[in-house]
Amino acid sequence: MSKPKIWSVINQKGGVGKTTTTVNLAYNLAKKRKRVLLVDLDPQGNASSGLGIAIKNLDKSLYDCLVSGEDPEKTLVKTEWPDLVLLPASTKLATVDTELPATQRDRVLRLKKTLESSEISENFDIVLIDAPPSLGLLTVNALVASDAVILPVQAEYYALEGLGQLLETMQIVRTGLNKTLGVMGILITMYDGRTSLSRQVEEQLKTHFANFLFKSTIPRNVKLAEAPSHGKPIGVYSPSSSGAKAYDSLAKEVLKHV
Ligand SMILES: Nc1ncnc2c1ncn2[C@@H]1O[C@H](COP(=O)(O)OP(=O)(O)OP(=O)(O)O)[C@@H](O)[C@H]1O
Ligand SMILES: [Mg+2]
Repeated sequence: MSKPKIWSVINQKGGVGKTTTTVNLAYNLAKKRKRVLLVDLDPQGNASSGLGIAIKNLDKSLYDCLVSGEDPEKTLVKTEWPDLVLLPASTKLATVDTELPATQRDRVLRLKKTLESSEISENFDIVLIDAPPSLGLLTVNALVASDAVILPVQAEYYALEGLGQLLETMQIVRTGLNKTLGVMGILITMYDGRTSLSRQVEEQLKTHFANFLFKSTIPRNVKLAEAPSHGKPIGVYSPSSSGAKAYDSLAKEVLKHV
């Protein structure tokens, strides 16, 4: 049996659509009969709640795996949807940086080790990681553990700001702990074709990153913003919405990389 593909959804800029992308891509891949594990690496726990899981009621979380080496088997949570399982976040993830001092040399390898457990490597085809909005220890753990990254970029001013720093961080990881870290693609999110601003950002990205842009673009769609408060992916909450169609199209595109 082959190991799962591990992909992180990363951008240190806040509110660009990382969690929306992780949740809805995970749902659509699972719907296409891939066995998907969503790893919620963000102390905010938005991906967990977006799948209808209340993290404050859980005994164990990804935090225990990272800090105490807890067996992930004991922390996995089934979702309402077949083939979609969650490794839930905890607000305690915010303390991982101080819990694992710089003297702990394996501190950047904790997520990789967790994902190498037999429970995960034998039971999933795809692992999708929702990263927090920072380039701190949690995000570096995601970069070290991943085969490739998906970079959501919001179609707005300063969209490209920070992308250079992110690509630099990836380069550092590549020269050290993860030589094969790839970029699967840059995803334009919250696109509004009626505004010249959205079109300008798209043009800019085409100029600088043509080979890396996903063909699928995620439109600004209010249904996508409403779905998380119902604890449902967009494909369940509003299957005929433009947002649902866009994430289905992204899932098809992503599967070409498998
Ligand atoms: N395509 C979209 N159309 C409309 N609203 C969207 C869209 N994508 C995301 N949103 C909304 O924008 C906000 C930010 O999105 P999201 O939480 O996915 O970003 P994020 O990058 O994960 O944020 P953070 O950096 O805080 O983790 C949320 O309220 C979300 O519901
Ligand atoms: Mg998020």
